[in-house]
Amino acid sequence: MCGITGYVGADPALPIISDGLSNLEYRGYDSAGVALVDEGLSVYKRSGAVAALREILPESAAQQRGIGHTRWSTHGPPTDENAHPHTDEAGRVAVVHNGIIENYESLRAEVSECTFTSETDTEVIPHLIARELAAGSAPRDAVQTVADCLAGSFAIVVAIAGVEQLFAIRKDSPLVIGHGESGMFLASDVTAFLEHTRTVTYLEDNELAELDSDGVSIYRGEDAVAVEREQLEWEADAAEKGGYDHYMLKEIHEQPRALRKTLSGRFDLDSGAVTLDVDLPSEYLNSIEEIQIVACGTSNYAGRYAAELFESLADVRTTVEIASEYTFSGGRDPWRTLVVAVTQSGETADTLSALRRANRAGARTLAVTNTLGSTVTREVEDSVFIRAGPEIGVAATKTFASQVATLALLAVFVGRERGALSSTDAIGVLESLRGLPGAIQQVLDLEDEVRLVAEEYAESDAFFFIGRRLGWPVALEGALKLKEISYDHAEGFAAGELKHGPLALVTDRTPVLAVLTDGSRPKETLNNIKEVQARSAPVIGASSFDGGSSYLDVEWDVPAIGVMEPIVTNVYWQLFAYHVADLKDRSIDQPRNLAKSVTVE
Ligand code: AGP
Repeated sequence: MCGITGYVGADPALPIISDGLSNLEYRGYDSAGVALVDEGLSVYKRSGAVAALREILPESAAQQRGIGHTRWSTHGPPTDENAHPHTDEAGRVAVVHNGIIENYESLRAEVSECTFTSETDTEVIPHLIARELAAGSAPRDAVQTVADCLAGSFAIVVAIAGVEQLFAIRKDSPLVIGHGESGMFLASDVTAFLEHTRTVTYLEDNELAELDSDGVSIYRGEDAVAVEREQLEWEADAAEKGGYDHYMLKEIHEQPRALRKTLSGRFDLDSGAVTLDVDLPSEYLNSIEEIQIVACGTSNYAGRYAAELFESLADVRTTVEIASEYTFSGGRDPWRTLVVAVTQSGETADTLSALRRANRAGARTLAVTNTLGSTVTREVEDSVFIRAGPEIGVAATKTFASQVATLALLAVFVGRERGALSSTDAIGVLESLRGLPGAIQQVLDLEDEVRLVAEEYAESDAFFFIGRRLGWPVALEGALKLKEISYDHAEGFAAGELKHGPLALVTDRTPVLAVLTDGSRPKETLNNIKEVQARSAPVIGASSFDGGSSYLDVEWDVPAIGVMEPIVTNVYWQLFAYHVADLKDRSIDQPRNLAKSVTVE
């Protein structure tokens, strides 16, 4: 996955493009580059993060058009040469690209007379466009003709020296247009230009946008299509650090606010009713035999939490699949199977591919996502938005909490529609959800204590997270967070499984972090804590459970709010991971080798 951006308007393009790249850096940080355009092209590009690029950018530049790119490498290592933008031989056409051109080798053969300077799949595009221009094509026609030859997924932005317009086209990769007062913006994600405008147009697959300083025209082949504008609700400072050292820490602290937005207006505590803007008729919900959740990483763990809730609240068999392993098989009846894709970005290739398999089989599909206009929302019958606001840190934090909260609402909704959940029990779950923001705030207020514990244990050999039932996905998520940002060895286990193997790893240098809350069978987990204590492991427990204290080296209180307590526990895990990583001076917002959303399978 990469981030691409563009601007054409009345203001100098350079600061707009470079600030946009900083906001898109979560999408890739192997290299970055900018092309500024007037009668010629000025291209600056460098391996490494946007900060490295800034060292070679001029202090100021007059050009009012430009494009930019931040890269997560797929074809070719992260070198200066492989950084985008890529240009033709004459240096007239510059292209930034997000996605993969599957047929780039055969296309390269078509322009074999050109000298290629990179190993990327992208560089063939400016050479091909230059060939079309040399043959007399108008700029838009040249871009369209070349796009028609590309196989694979792409969002590309093209700038041409001496041409006042920027051109953009997409297929299976995101691209959004911003309508600003000073000009027009383009980006993979609105966070690139949120400080300039919140009026946007999402480009659809195979649409070509032609932007100049006055506006945008959109074409599908030869035909002009209407430009639909949307107004985003995200606040202009949503993609800024707001005084925190890292986006991740800001996003951890944003959880109470994000959750209030997730929940706002979606339930009635008196009746236990849930209102979600989805078309899932009662008749259909009563006919389903199974819910299949498909997701990756943190979203998969949110799905595992939800699976417990669907089974217990809605009385429906629920399976959770790692999206890259998913097949629609096992004798399932597609008419009686609801497939729910959980994806923060809405762009994860593995999840989209799983969804397409479900669609092909004829199953009904639903997306739970944070991202309006994302690819997933175009491929499902219904979408439910988690409303967490932009998440820039590569490690998912607030979106996990908001995903679980949204899925819990969905479980109550399905449970009520199926007649499986009494209003009293529904109200119990909704009370717990209502208590979640306040309970998380109580944990956030204890951050200094968590940091002290992180200092004590940061140099451990490994970290093991354990939990049962609803505590298990939270153990998995705690370990994922720690390994992602600290690079320490961390594993999550179903607590009962420890004695079946992992116990062999436990020593006095492997802290065990345990979930001891409502919904996580704390009494049974205590037995596992005793087992690790007998092997001298230090135990850190996040607990709402009376009776565990004497077995814990560190005890963190979890406010008693019922079924959502493990999500509160997770906030301790997030703060612990953050501070361990911070003590080690890791690149917290952009951990090595990772990207925020992974758009390759
Ligand atoms: C979480 O910290 C990771 N960045 C990663 O596991 C992520 O959750 C996964 O790639 C799925 O992304 P999605 O929710 O955007 O589909």
